[in-house]
Amino acid sequence: MCGIVGYVGDEQAAPILLDGLRRLEYRGYDSAGIVVSLEGKLWLTKSRGYVNNLAGIIDGGAKMPGTVGLGHTRWATHGRPTDENAHPHISDGGKIAVVHNGIIENYAKLREFLISKGYHFQSETDTEVAVNLIAYFYAENGDLKLAVAQAARRMEGSYALGILCEDFPDTLIATKKESPLVLGVGGTARYLASDVAAILSYTRDVYNLRDDEVAVITRGGIEFFSGELDPIEKTPQHIDWDVSAAEKGGYEHFMIKEIMEQPEAVRRALKSRVRDGEIYLDGLDIPADFIKSVSKVYIVACGTADFAGVVMKYNLERLARVAAEVMFASEFRYNLPPIDETTLVICISQSGTTADTIAAMREAKKHGARVLSVVNVVGSVIAEESDWSLLTLAGPEICVASTKAYSTQLAVGYLLTLFIAKARGAIDDGKYRAALDALESLPGAIDETLKLREKAQYLASRYFSANDIYFIGRGLDYALSLEGDQKLKEISYIHSEAYAAGELKHGPIALIDSAVNTPVVAIATNARLIDKMASSAVEVKTRGARVLAVVTSATQDAMRDIADDMIVVPDYAEAFLPSLAIIPLQMFAYYIALQRGCEIDKPRNLAKSVTVE
Ligand code: M6R
Repeated sequence: MCGIVGYVGDEQAAPILLDGLRRLEYRGYDSAGIVVSLEGKLWLTKSRGYVNNLAGIIDGGAKMPGTVGLGHTRWATHGRPTDENAHPHISDGGKIAVVHNGIIENYAKLREFLISKGYHFQSETDTEVAVNLIAYFYAENGDLKLAVAQAARRMEGSYALGILCEDFPDTLIATKKESPLVLGVGGTARYLASDVAAILSYTRDVYNLRDDEVAVITRGGIEFFSGELDPIEKTPQHIDWDVSAAEKGGYEHFMIKEIMEQPEAVRRALKSRVRDGEIYLDGLDIPADFIKSVSKVYIVACGTADFAGVVMKYNLERLARVAAEVMFASEFRYNLPPIDETTLVICISQSGTTADTIAAMREAKKHGARVLSVVNVVGSVIAEESDWSLLTLAGPEICVASTKAYSTQLAVGYLLTLFIAKARGAIDDGKYRAALDALESLPGAIDETLKLREKAQYLASRYFSANDIYFIGRGLDYALSLEGDQKLKEISYIHSEAYAAGELKHGPIALIDSAVNTPVVAIATNARLIDKMASSAVEVKTRGARVLAVVTSATQDAMRDIADDMIVVPDYAEAFLPSLAIIPLQMFAYYIALQRGCEIDKPRNLAKSVTVE
């Protein structure tokens, strides 16, 4: 995710800003930049690539004198990772500089408005809209603080903004909504950061800015104002975390931090795309005629992304009534199924750089298929080369084991499914609207499900010493068992397998060993299939398995007498339940790995991005 750092004090700002940016590198980024004020002018340097690249250009900061400035590391969302799109952004006319984290959802409308007022744009970013909007109000009323508050009121979405104006060379202004921003105090120096990790080596006393508040930061002072610009008092907080804990937001591992970030990530993936009872897919020009003519969808991906594809397949077939098949990219590329111009290939990839998925996408295109990609990294090969691309907006995922990337892949999959279902006339208006309502409440329901953390930890303490664990499910629950199994084995190194529950008696049931009470995780959230699932659970139970059931409030009764342990997720619309049911499975894997003393964020033999075959 993007990172912000700001400094006002007696020392040269640029080296401190570079240091802060280096401390934010763990968040992932693709470009970096710095602005300082000097002799009433703004001096800007920014470039694609790493902070070291930027540091080389400005000679470790030496080439940028000045004691007030802002720095930024950008993770591209609107616009590719280029020098032009890197932050800080400067207003048309050059008076104001802004660094920004978050996404301004109504940026297209605001951009149109500003263009009609004569503003020119240099980049593809939503941030340039923010800086020009502030400049517009400032030109109207000559009061910078008021201009920031007025601009903030017009912006929808999330933002943390650091602002520097050449008319106030010794002052930074900050405001935020939904994206975090902290202000640090150390002697006469004042700091601004998206995350305490950036400034912990300078200060441990920080103020947390709340939504809509405005801060005016000068050497030796910070004034706070409400969104209505009434002065407010705030008390600093003393932070005891070390740098490593700070990077993880106080969590022990990135994995649990990223699990806990899922409501926010899914909200981002859905929010700007569901409006006024409709789905807007980032202006993708997928011709309606093509969607109607699609005869077959192939979902092509690797690992966890592939398992998100299995959820998408079940939903596409049930809701959009289109035949869909999921293939591992490594299989697809060498065993091409019959494809033609009526084939839609959906490539899913967090990194957008997975070698097999790239090769599969190129093969599909070569044979006439249209390719739609679902990726997390803007400007990645898959995003660039596919015919259409949808961002998952998960933000950088640092733990090798995917959690929030998977959840946002599911979320984008739901949107695509409903979009295709509507375009093909496969869903009636009532069902479509009900589905959109359910999607809007989904982030809140995920939040609620995260409360199962303690229960998952307790269950992990009961199962962590197992040698083998099996996951079973039917339909969407089978899709989930694939991912539950993947999470467990990759971080805990316990041998585990996932099976379609109905397949048990065709082979896998031979693995159940009454001598060790082989653990079986029975995912039984689907009310439509609960009777079938209950009888599968009985099959393993009677052969000596110890059954851990993942159920909903609606299915728990059917499993109560069978299961040895149960974990209950909230009941939800069937198509979207995987987003809730995956949470205890991720936590179960996490706490088992923790109890086994495994290296959770970087499991053995695995890499975050698999760029070789
Ligand atoms: O970057 P991608 O989504 O293309 O990566 C595909 C897999 O390597 C990835 O999903 C992997 O299975 C997960 N990180 C495991 O949790």
